[in-house]
Amino acid sequence: MSELPPEGPIRKLNDHHEVRGHPPQSRNGPPSSICLAKSRRADHRIEAAALPPADGPPQLSREDAVSSSGFGDLLRAARMSKGLSLTELGQRVNYSKGHLSHVELGRKRPTSALAASCDDVLDTGGILARQLQREDFPARVRSRPRPLAQLPHPPVHFTGRQEHLGLLDRLLSDSEHGSAPRTVVVSGAPGTGKTALALQWASRAAHRFGDGTLYADLGGPAGNKLPAVVLEGFLLALGLDRDAIPGGLSERAASYRNILASRQLLIVLDNVASSQQVRPLMTGSASNSLVVMTSRLRLSGLALHEGAHSLVLDALRLDEAAEYLRSASARTTADVRPSRIARIARLCEGLPLALTAMVHHLDTPSDGGPILADPRESVRGRLDLLSVFGDELLSVRRALEESYCALPPLMARAVRVLGVCHPDGVDDTVAARSLGVTTSVARNLLAGLAEANLLAPLADGGYRWSPLMTAFAAELVDVP
Ligand SMILES: Nc1ncnc2c1ncn2[C@@H]1O[C@H](COP(=O)(O)OP(=O)(O)OP(=O)(O)O)[C@@H](O)[C@H]1O
Ligand SMILES: [Mg+2]
Repeated sequence: MSELPPEGPIRKLNDHHEVRGHPPQSRNGPPSSICLAKSRRADHRIEAAALPPADGPPQLSREDAVSSSGFGDLLRAARMSKGLSLTELGQRVNYSKGHLSHVELGRKRPTSALAASCDDVLDTGGILARQLQREDFPARVRSRPRPLAQLPHPPVHFTGRQEHLGLLDRLLSDSEHGSAPRTVVVSGAPGTGKTALALQWASRAAHRFGDGTLYADLGGPAGNKLPAVVLEGFLLALGLDRDAIPGGLSERAASYRNILASRQLLIVLDNVASSQQVRPLMTGSASNSLVVMTSRLRLSGLALHEGAHSLVLDALRLDEAAEYLRSASARTTADVRPSRIARIARLCEGLPLALTAMVHHLDTPSDGGPILADPRESVRGRLDLLSVFGDELLSVRRALEESYCALPPLMARAVRVLGVCHPDGVDDTVAARSLGVTTSVARNLLAGLAEANLLAPLADGGYRWSPLMTAFAAELVDVP
């Protein structure tokens, strides 16, 4: 047994606990110099207790002790202070001597049950359980799980997007050689097929990620999915025990980055509401993983600060849209004239969400398919038709509403006023005049709407609305 300082071992353990965990604070301020000096002394004392005496039994080499986990050091010090051998402790806590020895050497991770039993038997006042909580989290990861496979299925009738799939392939190859960012943001207007593209590409590329795939739906513009909740799910999937998951967001994020530093995963963050929501879910610089996110917002801040690659997705080309209608609705469209299919594709403006609602209508003729073939159909009626009653996920109006409701009041007003007064397009000067604001305020509002992909920027500095968006604006102010 090593010689113990006068205050006894448990007192020393408590000191150590404070030093490694939360430095004792003076009541109203930062740690006082007295506290710090006391802490340093305590640190040295516990190190001395954790190391074997020079002439003691060669249970631990100095290197072993120094490299062992904090938990192992504490356990050994507590056990020795009670004068128990590994075998004796093992008998009392129902673990083998060999296992306890590995735990003391930091080679095996203790369970919280073992920590609690040792606390009990060694009468430590719960120090071991608390130490386990604050241990290095990757060290507490269970054996590496099999490759994860969290991706949902991509759409069965996925059509087109060859150039986007090719671009994502190139980005992946370049990122493997270290010359491209490891985060890609796919953004676009509501219902343009961002999720479909991300899932289609990810399911093809998943085999290139040795540790598999992680997926989370962040909930879209309403944005009510908390990153801390997503991190909890990811950490569990990555093998962390539930009781080892830290409570705080930044600690969870740090733990996640730590684990990812030694993994190669494809991570899909779908329907992201804001940059702020996903920053804690970004991988660290050491990671070989790739993050693909989809959002209605361009998330320009992520490109600017985190170097994310931005891919802005438009609607499908009209030939792709017609192909989608034909393949998804093959039974119904088999004898429909190509000109009618092309007209429906145009009425949907190639928007995959609208096309999917139309596939439903085409397969349910009493539901409005024939009406859509009428080119005189009013814009208002079009928004009605591009929805499937009772299915919020297949409603263009609902999708636009969701984005509109997430806008700050001035931007929402800009949609109502400019969408109705200038359906053919708008620029800073026109917007300033119509909204009664300065040109710089107007510029910011238009840039904000472009960031939300509700207004498309043009090369000449102006902006263009999509006809579905102007139809929606007309509904907002009750224009027939
Ligand atoms: N390329 C495509 N081929 C076939 N179907 C598609 C394609 N793109 C999207 N879809 C279908 O269109 C509908 C809308 O697509 P998706 O959910 O991917 O859009 P989104 O842009 O992610 O929407 P949101 O803005 O709400 O996130 C879905 O039913 C999807 O299966
Ligand atoms: Mg989506």
